[in-house]
Amino acid sequence: MYRIGQEEIDAVARAILSRDFFKINGSGQEVLRFEEEWKAFTGSAHALLMTSGYAALASALIGMGIGPGDEVIVPAYTYIATALAVLETGAIPVIADTDETLTLSAEDTEQKITPCTKAIIPVHIQGFPSDMDGLRAVAARHGVRILEDACQSAGGCYHGRPLGSIGDAGAYSFNYFKIITSGEGGALVTNDRTIHERALIYHDASAVAFFGSQLDGISEPLFGGREYRVSDLTGAILREQLKRLPSLRADLKRGQCTIAESLAGILTLAPSHDFEGDTGTTLAFRFESEAETRRFAAKCAEGGIGLTVPIDTGKHVYTNWTQVMEKRGALNPLMDPYRMEANRGAACDYTPEMCSKTLDLLARTAYLAVNPEWSEADIAHVTGVLADAAKG
Ligand SMILES: Cc1ncc(COP(=O)(O)O)c(C=O)c1O
Repeated sequence: MYRIGQEEIDAVARAILSRDFFKINGSGQEVLRFEEEWKAFTGSAHALLMTSGYAALASALIGMGIGPGDEVIVPAYTYIATALAVLETGAIPVIADTDETLTLSAEDTEQKITPCTKAIIPVHIQGFPSDMDGLRAVAARHGVRILEDACQSAGGCYHGRPLGSIGDAGAYSFNYFKIITSGEGGALVTNDRTIHERALIYHDASAVAFFGSQLDGISEPLFGGREYRVSDLTGAILREQLKRLPSLRADLKRGQCTIAESLAGILTLAPSHDFEGDTGTTLAFRFESEAETRRFAAKCAEGGIGLTVPIDTGKHVYTNWTQVMEKRGALNPLMDPYRMEANRGAACDYTPEMCSKTLDLLARTAYLAVNPEWSEADIAHVTGVLADAAKG
């Protein structure tokens, strides 16, 4: 969460005082309006606002028709929710290495594709754009769908196209830790009418046919699903948050790019598939060894600047995905994808070493979190501390 204030308070107050803030209402229609605005912002034909990024990922996969017997490729470095969303559908998450940018490797993805692979999930982690050209070529060669996990990358771009809008579908998170937030929340975008219709039904299984005219023009038959619907309070906050996003991103990029330019020739940045397009939340430095990385981070800490070495980020690293690595996909064994007959023979011989390239990169990278409120003097100070630390 970066910026929030009176505008969000006033918007929520308006929704509450209308006494009419169920999603389908005759008053503010904040959810429906946010969906229209998010469609315009991302350039997508359809958008659904729901409870979380996880819900948006799972609803998109269901929309793609994915289920038991299918494999979905996820990167070894992403929040565990990406893999758990695959398990919700009954499919098996297959874990692939990242490339040097810490996003899904097109090369390893292609190697991990089997006849059971139905989709791949590039994750624009920390707002770093994935190799969408490479991954789209792989997906086209093998006839698999692309679901972008844009949960950490609202507002970012890949060669001018909004992250999350390039694949068959994209999922965003608006939880407390994200670039724009409603405390909890998520959105799904797609240009695919079938994915949209199925996700509409799945994310609001009971009420979608009961309130309003949501099923007008929908041809997919009703089926059982989940309750991932949100109220107008979520929509009201997010409409204000969305107004803040362009200037927020500009301020993040200002700090990030200034520091990167000042440190050119002093420190090495991790490669990027589109540095201009990334969200600006993070500056990633790459080192030759983990020891060098930790020495640098320790020096920065002495100067009052805390860096993160991403191997330390817990459930973002596949080795720490306990229930995935130990293959417990559900409490009830009959609902556990790892024990389903349809998934017998699936590519899930997970071991801690299987994506050692990713682990090595994560241990040789240090993140500086950019603060959009930094003044020119703050930016100069941070740059100075990092430059001094680089001298050893
Ligand atoms: C990369 C990634 N995917 C998925 C999610 C899940 O989002 P949510 O917490 O809104 O369910 C997150 C959230 O932290 C995330 O960072």
